[in-house]
Amino acid sequence: MCIKRIAVFASGNGTNAQRIAEYFKNNKDIEISLILSNKPGAGVLERAEKLGIKSFVFNKNDFKKGQEVDVLLQQYGIDFIVLAGFLWLVPAFLIDKFPNKIINIHPALLPKYGGKGMYGMNVHRAVIENNEKESGISIHYVNNKYDEGQIIFQAKFDIDKGETPDSLANKIHKLEYEHFPKIIEKEILKL
Ligand code: GAR
Repeated sequence: MCIKRIAVFASGNGTNAQRIAEYFKNNKDIEISLILSNKPGAGVLERAEKLGIKSFVFNKNDFKKGQEVDVLLQQYGIDFIVLAGFLWLVPAFLIDKFPNKIINIHPALLPKYGGKGMYGMNVHRAVIENNEKESGISIHYVNNKYDEGQIIFQAKFDIDKGETPDSLANKIHKLEYEHFPKIIEKEILKL
């Protein structure tokens, strides 16, 4: 197999991006070639630097019109896109260029707790407030609506008595670190 190159899009801290990069570090067939963010100063950019991965920040206009992001993806020969805590809707031109080759991780059991504004701690707070009995993670293909693409994988656990949004976030992150890189690998082997 010739080397497959991944671009990771992230808006925040970037712990998933780091975990993915570390997972593939010694893999000769799969490389994290690029980290892209919409947020200047996001933690993920510092992580990218420490990992020795090229990173770029783009603004909303660049993203919607596509030019800058599109050029970067071509320049780096990107085959597959991973959204790891990325908060903007992906424009149609990108979805068309990467059919079933853009995946997202969501910190809840979709279709519940998805949609615009449902990210990170907002999700965990809503799950606790609604006294849900369980939560988990969903990994899905990205389409032109927030969190509505076909689900590839879910993992769940029971919510403990006295669970808080913070403790829930910790459990979710652990589950994400365990499963996300493996699912990415499986998807790439299909290319
Ligand atoms: C992750 O929990 C991810 O599932 C969530 O943001 C967090 C990013 O954490 N994504 C969403 O909520 C998308 N709707 P990280 O920056 O530490 O990887």
